[in-house]
Amino acid sequence: MIYDSRGNKSVPLGSEVTSPVPVLFHYRTQKTLPSSSSLSSNPPNSHFSPTRRRQNRMGIEEGFKLVGYSNFVRVNPRSDRFAVKRFHHVEFWCTDATNTARRFSWGLGLPIVAKSDLSTGNAAHASYLLRSGDLCFLFTAPYSPSIAAMEEYSSSRSSVPSFDHDACRSFSAKHGLAVRAVAIEVEDAEAAFNASVAHGARPSTSPTLLLDNRAVLAEVELYGDVVLRYISHKPNPDDSDPGARFLPGFQAVEESSSFPLDYGIRRLDHAVGNVPELAPAVAYVKELTGFHEFAEFTAEDVGTSESGLNSVVLASNEENVLLPMNEPVFGTKRKSQIQTYLEHNEGAGVQHLALVSEDIFRTLREMRKRSGVGGFEFMPSPPPTYYKNLKSRAGDVLSDEQIKECEELGILVDRDDQGTLLQIFTKPVGDRPTIFIEIIQRVGCMMKDESGKEYQKGGCGGFGKGNFSELFKSIEEYEKTLEARALPGAASA
Ligand SMILES: [Fe+2]
Repeated sequence: MIYDSRGNKSVPLGSEVTSPVPVLFHYRTQKTLPSSSSLSSNPPNSHFSPTRRRQNRMGIEEGFKLVGYSNFVRVNPRSDRFAVKRFHHVEFWCTDATNTARRFSWGLGLPIVAKSDLSTGNAAHASYLLRSGDLCFLFTAPYSPSIAAMEEYSSSRSSVPSFDHDACRSFSAKHGLAVRAVAIEVEDAEAAFNASVAHGARPSTSPTLLLDNRAVLAEVELYGDVVLRYISHKPNPDDSDPGARFLPGFQAVEESSSFPLDYGIRRLDHAVGNVPELAPAVAYVKELTGFHEFAEFTAEDVGTSESGLNSVVLASNEENVLLPMNEPVFGTKRKSQIQTYLEHNEGAGVQHLALVSEDIFRTLREMRKRSGVGGFEFMPSPPPTYYKNLKSRAGDVLSDEQIKECEELGILVDRDDQGTLLQIFTKPVGDRPTIFIEIIQRVGCMMKDESGKEYQKGGCGGFGKGNFSELFKSIEEYEKTLEARALPGAASA
């Protein structure tokens, strides 16, 4: 995906620290890149109407307009409606949490660190927490509702108060393996919920004190059957149980593996949603969170209509919580991948989760080893022409050796005016062609906070928008080399 900005000029970020990401590459100041619009030689072939209108709750018509990559100027109005800290966790609803959690644990190098299940006195659902650095994935599946209703389990309590048997079952039946909740840690979950609902959010779970009153959870609808979950913790410096540190009611799990399970993944960078129509979805989330438009990208931006999507990225004040959303574009030669998702998912939902690695080469080597033995498979690698062109695109940031390693591992590289993005996508992780994982490493944009501590600016290097046109161009070039090779053979046949 994309992006760049709108408005006037870049506004410096505040002093709050986002998760620091070690910079493993030596990088130099980046040169200004040509505008992506210079790559657009084809007329747009989309049915997207650039300006859409909606009515706010007061019945006043408001404009929503995608201006595209080259016209977008990034501005940070710091307009969050409540104090946002960071992504807290992502919860998947599934039909068997044990197997799903173990598969993700093995495939991504995320150890299972905490549980809430029958063994901890929870007869409602089995939940397993995977953690690496700041990244937390929670896998939840329902137990038998009749068991949960039995008297002997009457003292059993769900550790996630929003859990609902019927909702969980029908969610999995409808969507397959999918994300139920994108959770963010906020200063005060009750205040966040109230502010959101006051600004049009559809409530899902009212603010609820968790088991021992040390945390508050609340939820509002995000898109489709996905909720935006607010978590706030009450300070408890004595708490040494990492399970309880996640949420009360969870117990730590002893490391059972005979070798350390860590491939270098450290945190969630962005959680992307696919929606049928971008304008109302963006307006809704923007209004309830106060998040600002961080970047956008339209089908026209890539110089080919093949991307089949328009996209907008919403960001929190500190730009460490990034919520991109995509909509399908119709009228293209190939069916939009977003439309395919919407059909298979039966509606809107989380399309991909971008996970930050502190060393993408190491992460990819480990993940690729396991692709055929229970891990995750990756999308096909670009043709060699892509990496030949990469030298001129990123030769000032990546060494020849690193470019070679990118080619060996199938890593894509893109950049914006501020930094460089290394990225790669898995194939869909479940049965349906719906949710997948992106592994990324951002290079550049290092800043210092007031205390002198170095941190990396959120969204540094963009989201891979340039790779649409680069991949298209390199495939064309590669096909030409194949044709050239085929000619002598054809002549001699
Ligand atoms: Fe992404």
